[in-house]
Amino acid sequence: MSHQLLPFLEKNDTDIAKAIHGEEEREEDGLELIPSENYVSRAVREANGSVLTNKYSEGYPHKRYYGGQTFTDIVEEIAMERACKLFNCKFANVQPHSGAPANIATYFALMQPGDTILGMDLAHGGHLTHGHPVTYISKIFNFVRYHMKNIETGEIDYDELREVAKREKPKVILAGFSAYSRELDYEKFVSIAREVGALAVADMAHIAGLIAGRAVKNPFDAGFDVILTTTHKTLRGPRGGMILTRDNEEIAKKINKSVFPGFQGGPHMHTIAAKAVAFGEALHPEFKKYATQIIKNARAMAEVLKKRNVRMIGGGTDNHLILADVFGSMGVTGKEAQTVLDEVGITLNMNMIAGDPRKPMDPSGIRFGTPAITTRGFMETDCARVAELMLDTLEHKDETEFKKRVREEIRDMCRTHPIPEEFFKS
Ligand SMILES: Cc1ncc(COP(=O)(O)O)c(C=O)c1O
Repeated sequence: MSHQLLPFLEKNDTDIAKAIHGEEEREEDGLELIPSENYVSRAVREANGSVLTNKYSEGYPHKRYYGGQTFTDIVEEIAMERACKLFNCKFANVQPHSGAPANIATYFALMQPGDTILGMDLAHGGHLTHGHPVTYISKIFNFVRYHMKNIETGEIDYDELREVAKREKPKVILAGFSAYSRELDYEKFVSIAREVGALAVADMAHIAGLIAGRAVKNPFDAGFDVILTTTHKTLRGPRGGMILTRDNEEIAKKINKSVFPGFQGGPHMHTIAAKAVAFGEALHPEFKKYATQIIKNARAMAEVLKKRNVRMIGGGTDNHLILADVFGSMGVTGKEAQTVLDEVGITLNMNMIAGDPRKPMDPSGIRFGTPAITTRGFMETDCARVAELMLDTLEHKDETEFKKRVREEIRDMCRTHPIPEEFFKS
């Protein structure tokens, strides 16, 4: 990534310009292993930083509440069309400001307050927006849970899922996760949903890029009704959300109404333009290679952990992320691991694991993944080396000289694999 030119900011607001340059250097100089992060292209950033931020466009293309929509309509229609092509569906709402608003707007579109929704337990890999008690949304809808049957293989307890669904009669069954590394059996979800008269909704925020790149299964192919997603993470777009409907126009209409005017105000047209650009990039044939490489790289890292007897929740990975029990395996807490690895230039996050005896602010696990380093061009051997360095660092966490050597090696890797500005040249 070349130094971003910020001629006006540097002149008019040096504090913010300095902080942005600092972040640029941090990103360039270290390895980003947080599985929900990535590096977007310069084209995405240009769209995101464009004059479209000036425009109010409440409503949808050709049905807006303000004048002057010639170009915003073009932008939003292109974004919608590309999204539908990418995910093989009929309807897309590209207005949600992020993943959480997309989820909440969808719950209100498909349910009445007090209705029941069946989702994955947070401790087993689900997301806060799937009804964790700390969220406001958990006070409005009745969230019930399913879990993994076997933490060592990651297998979902589909018998429990069916049993709870039959007993609780949810309106929505939610598949999806933010800390789970195995593929879901989407057909089973759909057949249980049909059996109890629920809608099948998938929150694919983490693996949307893998689905778009055809590297994992698409829940729509199994008959899911709705897919929720973020547009950042593996999809490598700007920070944002999106709601996709397979083919049911009534559902799509309810979702549109719920996003605006139900939940949000004016759409962020600059972000929608950046989403359109990112979707265009994801439609490029080379994106498939990128998505496939993310998984190969995560598997290469998982192999190293396995060889060195580090326990992984789910026993390995089918996607872009790994959840490792560093406390149980190495006696290093998640928080300690996060801090020590930060010192050597590896950024990841501490994470609770299923059945964790520890607390969220200092859990047993770490969660890491390969979307960002794959964007940098890392291949399996590079990723295996990163995994070795991570574990070596945790084993030598109190040795300053050792950590200095690792930091230098990480710096070298970063220099050899600079962050690209453009991904695919046609
Ligand atoms: C599965 C899932 N859903 C929703 C979200 C929320 O997305 P955002 O942080 O963009 O609101 C996340 C974010 O981590 C996620 O992993």
